Amino acid sequence: MVSLETQSAAVPTRPVEFDSWLSDLPKHFAAGGDIVMSHVLAVLSSVFPDGEDYFVRSVEAGRPQVTDPQLRADVDGFVGQESMHGREHRVLNERLAELGYPTNAIGAYVRWLFRTRERIKNKRLHLAFTAALEHYTATLAETLLNDPDARGEIGHPGARYLLMWHALEEAEHKAVAFDVYRALGGTERMRIAAMWVTHVLFVLETGLWSAISLAMDPAAWRHPLRVARSVWRLRRSPFTRPAAIRQLFQYNRRGFHPNDRDTTELITEWRAKLFGSDGELTELLAS
Ligand SMILES: [Fe+2]
Ligand SMILES: [Fe+2]
Repeated sequence: MVSLETQSAAVPTRPVEFDSWLSDLPKHFAAGGDIVMSHVLAVLSSVFPDGEDYFVRSVEAGRPQVTDPQLRADVDGFVGQESMHGREHRVLNERLAELGYPTNAIGAYVRWLFRTRERIKNKRLHLAFTAALEHYTATLAETLLNDPDARGEIGHPGARYLLMWHALEEAEHKAVAFDVYRALGGTERMRIAAMWVTHVLFVLETGLWSAISLAMDPAAWRHPLRVARSVWRLRRSPFTRPAAIRQLFQYNRRGFHPNDRDTTELITEWRAKLFGSDGELTELLAS
C-alpha cells in the first residue's frame, strides 16, 4: 500500500474497520427483513473481494506503461482502495457465511472465473473488462449516494455504512481503470465488446447465484408468499429504475468517458458526511 503522505488526493486510501458494526448483522438484513434483497446484496458482497483482486491485477499490469504522473498516483490510490474494499467485504462475507449464505462458494467461483479468463495474456482485454465492471460499481455507487430510497434498502446500519464508504470510493476512482486502458491504446471496439459480455454475465451470474442462495434458505421454503412479494417489490427497486439502467448503457456509446457524469459535488458531500473534517470515520448515520 502507498504511504499516506504521498497518496493521490483524488483517490485516497483510508484505513477503516467495520468488524464491530457487523457482529450483530441479522440473516435478513435488508430493510423490513426483505428476503430477496438480502440475498441479492449478499451475492454482490460475495463477488467483490475476488473481483476486486482481479481489478488490481489488471490495473497494476498496465501501470508501467502509464506516463502521466497524476494517473500513476491515482493507480496507487485505486490499488489501495480496492484492497481495503476486499478486506472489509471479506469480514462481511464471513459473517454472512455464519448466517448460512453461500459466500465461500461464490468467492471460489469468481476466483476460478477470473483466473480462467487471465489465461488469455492480453493486458488491454483485462483492463477493458475491469473498466466495464468499474462502470457497474460507479453506477451502483451514484445511485446509493444520490438516492435515499436506495440507501434505505440496506436496513442494517453497519452494512449500510460499509456500502456507503465503498460507494464513495468507487465514485472517486471511477475513471482510473478506464484511463489506464486508454493509456495502453485500448480501442473503443474492444471496450464496448467487453461491456456487452459483462452485461450478459452480470445478469446471469447475479440472478443464478441469488436463486441458489435463496433456495438454500429454509425461511424461503417456509414463507413462499413472502418470497413472491419480495420478488414483486424488486421491480420498483431504486437499483432497477430506468434512469439507473440508462446510465449503465451510456457506457456502450462511442466516445464515452466516466467523467462525463460530474460527481464532484456528490463526492465532496459524502466525504464530509462519512469522514468529517479530521478524516476519521464518523459515527453511524441514520440513512
Ligand atoms: Fe471496490
Ligand atoms: Fe472500483
